Amino acid sequence: MYRVAIITSSDAGYRKERADQSGPAIRKIAEANGYQVVSAVVLPDEKQMLSDEMRRIADGNLADLILTTGGTGFSPRDCMPEATAEVVQRLVPGIPEAMRAYSAQFTKRAMLSRAAAGIREATLIVNLPGSPKAVRECLEYIISELGHGLDILTGADANCARK
Ligand code: MTE
Repeated sequence: MYRVAIITSSDAGYRKERADQSGPAIRKIAEANGYQVVSAVVLPDEKQMLSDEMRRIADGNLADLILTTGGTGFSPRDCMPEATAEVVQRLVPGIPEAMRAYSAQFTKRAMLSRAAAGIREATLIVNLPGSPKAVRECLEYIISELGHGLDILTGADANCARK
């Protein structure tokens, strides 16, 4: 069972002015797909705090997958892709590309999400957009393929041979 850490980026959520609905939406989908949620935090839209949390989790091997929500748009405070870029050692552009392509059927504004993904040590980090609706649309689409990536990343599966 792969371990997931959830990071929500939201100034209002961090100040407790707004309840975080997106972190719990991630938890629900992850658990329904056989993942174990090991942590869930709400942080402000602060690049250093977000990247520190990703580094802590990946370098401590505390989770196999980090799913983030929020901070991928154009607001001046949105910095999740930058925090992610700062910590990843290898980029995984196909995941956000696939999310944006698939999401266009729901809203053409999907193209406005700057979500990134990448690998640090043995942890895959994937940014999701901020709204619970967007989280559901994106995560339900990609989650079926993440397990195979994690199998390769963690060495559980040596190669990709398949029909
Ligand atoms: N993707 C999906 N699947 N569904 C959505 O409703 N909203 C978009 C986009 N991606 C959306 C989506 C909008 S309106 C924005 S502004 C961006 O995600 C960035 O969102 P964020 O700043 O909350 O991360």
